[in-house]
Amino acid sequence: MIISIIGFMGCGKSSVGRRLSELLCCPFVDLDQVIEERAGRTIPEIFAQDGESVFRQMELDALKSISFPSKMVMALGGGAIMTPGCAEIVQAETMCIYLRASIDTLVGHLEGQADGRPMLQGAELRERIVRLMEERSDTYEANAHMIIDVDGKDIDEIGAEIADSILYLQSNQINEL
Ligand code: S3P
Repeated sequence: MIISIIGFMGCGKSSVGRRLSELLCCPFVDLDQVIEERAGRTIPEIFAQDGESVFRQMELDALKSISFPSKMVMALGGGAIMTPGCAEIVQAETMCIYLRASIDTLVGHLEGQADGRPMLQGAELRERIVRLMEERSDTYEANAHMIIDVDGKDIDEIGAEIADSILYLQSNQINEL
């Protein structure tokens, strides 16, 4: 089973993904890291030099470049699922988990961290998060096979909750992915 993790910036995708991969004893891939390694540049550099649309194409190319093993956890960048080609791959190849966080939780996690996140520039942090969440939340939910509410939970709790749900699905053969 390939597990993909989606959700807004700051919801904990990479940390939870890494923890989940430990619990499930399988590799972890961070799509943002794949993009940076392939480009030899950081994400803020890519946005500054080439703009968002080039970054979105790089995101799709990186996702296409991954040769999916039989078992893996993969964290996507917060905007990746908004690109139709990315959503198609996620739907075809993965079991998709949406880490759903409230605006307050996201603001709390992202305060002081907007510098490395080009999509959070240009407005007050909460306002920017609210606006982007309005654009994205339906797409996150529509693509999710499982939604995990993360407010008030730590990484270990979230990882364990997902691992338990997956092991339950597998033991009952509910999911054939
Ligand atoms: C983005 C999220 C970032 C990164 C890029 C764009 C977005 O990843 O892919 O800055 O559009 O939400 P994280 O969600 O891991 O911060």
